[in-house]
Amino acid sequence: QPDPAFTFVLFGGTGDLSMRKILPALFAAHRSGKLHAEGKILCLAQQAMDRVAFLESVRARIAVRDAPADPAWDGFLARIDYLQIDAFDVATYQSLAAHLEQASGVRVFYLATAPALFEPICAHLFACGIDLAQARVVLEKPLGTDLASSRKINDAVARVFAENQIYRIDHYLGKESVQNLMALRFANSLFEPLWRRESIAHVQLTIAEELGVEGRGAFYDATGALRDMVQNHLLQLLCMVAMEPPTSFDADAVRDEKLRVLRALKPLSPFDAEQKAVRGQYGSGAIRSSAVAGFLEEPGIAPGSRTETFVALQAEINNWRWAGVPFFLRTGKRLPQRTAEIVITFRPVPHAILPMPPGLASDVANRLVIKLQPEESIQLHCLGKQPGDGMHLQPVVLDLALDKASTRPRAEAYERLLLDAIRGNLALFVRRDEQEAAWKWVEPLLTAWDNSSLPPKSYAAGTWGPASSSALLYRAGFAWPEER
Ligand code: BG6
Repeated sequence: QPDPAFTFVLFGGTGDLSMRKILPALFAAHRSGKLHAEGKILCLAQQAMDRVAFLESVRARIAVRDAPADPAWDGFLARIDYLQIDAFDVATYQSLAAHLEQASGVRVFYLATAPALFEPICAHLFACGIDLAQARVVLEKPLGTDLASSRKINDAVARVFAENQIYRIDHYLGKESVQNLMALRFANSLFEPLWRRESIAHVQLTIAEELGVEGRGAFYDATGALRDMVQNHLLQLLCMVAMEPPTSFDADAVRDEKLRVLRALKPLSPFDAEQKAVRGQYGSGAIRSSAVAGFLEEPGIAPGSRTETFVALQAEINNWRWAGVPFFLRTGKRLPQRTAEIVITFRPVPHAILPMPPGLASDVANRLVIKLQPEESIQLHCLGKQPGDGMHLQPVVLDLALDKASTRPRAEAYERLLLDAIRGNLALFVRRDEQEAAWKWVEPLLTAWDNSSLPPKSYAAGTWGPASSSALLYRAGFAWPEER
């Protein structure tokens, strides 16, 4: 199907997200010829500014930083217009309505604003008579801070848009490497027979960041790692690993299967919040030998804040495929390296006829390591024979560098997702019931931590989190990869 003409209406057009992610992603799509010639971008924000001044700021904030000499900028900027709007004042939407009257193609409303604005924006779009029948609305996270607030947002948006018009972004789903997980699992027959409790001992999912809160102190202090990373990105990854094969790649077929996983997650009790979950907060330390400040010293963080910057937890999935297989999830800021990876550890051989080399843990082998970033690779860790006399084992690795397997250009997550929204492909967006099931699952942890008299455990920046994160695995008889 050819790409449609479109009008991309960007609320929060002068904001950080627009300048860092959305406009650069649209530029990348434009430069590679993926945007329809009749595609227009209308940026909306509160500031009084004319088009020329807005384009100047786009040049200054994006072009100069990313690709100043690229001749594609002129054509890209020609697509952009600017309109001042007060999201709370319905009267100011009239000029938007008038603008859209003249525009052709599908309408994509991208709400890159605080979620508090989602409700008035949707209500006012409707109230001022804009034809929304064929429109799409893209919602940025955070979608609420708990189940009740996310329901409230979803209800407000649903009063104006049908569910199949709503595109909830989780940018992890736009990553090539994450989509490749689906290809790996469902385009090859070799993994499926092993992908279950009979063969798998446990699964680890890690998203580690070197970055701290990076100027987002006030937002992050009110959010924390559980809401920022676990409720969305980590649970989506878990779904990709644990879901049953969908009957097709149709958006709802995929999302139905992810939902089944979320609903099968064993609910966490207050006891689990203490025993099966760890929250940490970074203190000062060093990243790549450079000293960095602790979380409490960062600008915008309330004195004595108890917000967690690290979470490790043990999840279980109550279904026939996964019963009894622990899934360990962890994420944190100011960890030693940026990485996202999935480690699947298979059960040991039932009877070992060859002795393990001294000093090596038995689970050093029988592991599938899927690295999602920064590099993309699949490694199968096995045991092989040491060359030479005797029969001695040594660890060997089958290593597939996926990012070198093709010379085709890889699209950034946002570029892929924005194009999907324009094209009307919902497969990589989160459905309401998925999102609410994820909130429901994390909520007992949020409540237990809010009510706890204990602060998060401290860890030095540049380390792998508090010691209790290692203890969580140790108690189950396992170890994180860096501790093997
Ligand atoms: C965002 C979080 O959703 O994901 C950030 O709000 C985090 O805190 C980011 O840094 C990580 O994304 P990526 O793509 O850099 O792994």
